[in-house]
Amino acid sequence: MELNITCIPGDGIGPEIVAEAKKVLDAVAVRFGHTMKYTDILMGGASIDAYGVPLTDEAIETAKSADAVLMGSIGGNTTTSPWYKLPPNLRPEAGLLGIRKALNLFANLRPAVLYEELAGACPLKEEISAAGFDMLIMRELTGGLYFGERKTVEENGVLKAIDTLTYDENEIRRIAIKGFDIAMKRRKKVTSVDKANVLDSSRLWRKVVEEVAKDYPEVTLEHMLVDNCAMQLVKDPAQFDVILTENMFGDILSDEASMVTGSIGMLASASLNDSKFGLYEPSHGSAPDIAGKDIANPIATILSASMMLRYSFDLDKEADAIDNAVKSVLKEGYRTVDIMSAGCTQVGCKQMGDLLTQRI
Ligand code: IPM
Ligand code: MG
Repeated sequence: MELNITCIPGDGIGPEIVAEAKKVLDAVAVRFGHTMKYTDILMGGASIDAYGVPLTDEAIETAKSADAVLMGSIGGNTTTSPWYKLPPNLRPEAGLLGIRKALNLFANLRPAVLYEELAGACPLKEEISAAGFDMLIMRELTGGLYFGERKTVEENGVLKAIDTLTYDENEIRRIAIKGFDIAMKRRKKVTSVDKANVLDSSRLWRKVVEEVAKDYPEVTLEHMLVDNCAMQLVKDPAQFDVILTENMFGDILSDEASMVTGSIGMLASASLNDSKFGLYEPSHGSAPDIAGKDIANPIATILSASMMLRYSFDLDKEADAIDNAVKSVLKEGYRTVDIMSAGCTQVGCKQMGDLLTQRI
């Protein structure tokens, strides 16, 4: 099969980690008889430097014509980089929000798994981490506060900023369906997270999620307020299977969930639309402080490539080959510096890519 993939190396460590992911994908292609066709586009700071904008229409068109998009990371140091002197709509992050909207990527899947081999890196007490956890945050990605009307006005000499949080029932329904569908393939539990004790958008969220739940009698649904969820994530993460939530809550909770795994450098993500098309990227950022040093952990990007094979191409065996290679290198004791622990062998970004490539 020919896989037509648009790559966004991006900024910071992005180009290094995407290069390693391509290496692993090429090994998958050789072993399973596929052809990988990559087309790179610029986004974020790299695009600002080249074109003055964080995302061009041409780049969007290239991405649209592909089967899937594999991304590294975008953005720079928000206090020192000149990109952050630009108006907000021209900064690197606007490119990411722009491509999410342009490609209608409303469903963001962020798995947070405690790897047995890395349990020592989990910052939680051992009596909590011993239970292990394996959750998936299903975050709505193209609505809510991120895309509502916003403005800053001056009223009677006083500055006032307004952000609008809007959801219609269709937006809620389609993400809820994605959440329940994926729960059916997992442990069949959905925790829908909202702030229904305060927000109208959350009360509508709850109502629509309950309607959707009727079509999934095998799935257990519970509702949880977002502040309680933030607490439960550190108190008892094993209780969660699928967390279904809106854009802003999902942004915050997914960072918290990845932190409790102790290894954000390991966590992949997928952003999907209604078809098989998706954008796949690590859950971590561009880490400008370590860019170019060959010490970044490429595993989150490589696991994102695995998610791409699984969700956009239905290539489960190929995705398993990548996931198993990751498990093997961890078992054999190889670690990048972010997940290093005593008795293990420290390797750089490229070497980690090579080790994984050899195990495909
Ligand atoms: C994320 C990031 C983005 C978001 C930023 C970079 C705009 O934090 O993907 O979680 O808030 O969605
Ligand atoms: Mg975030």
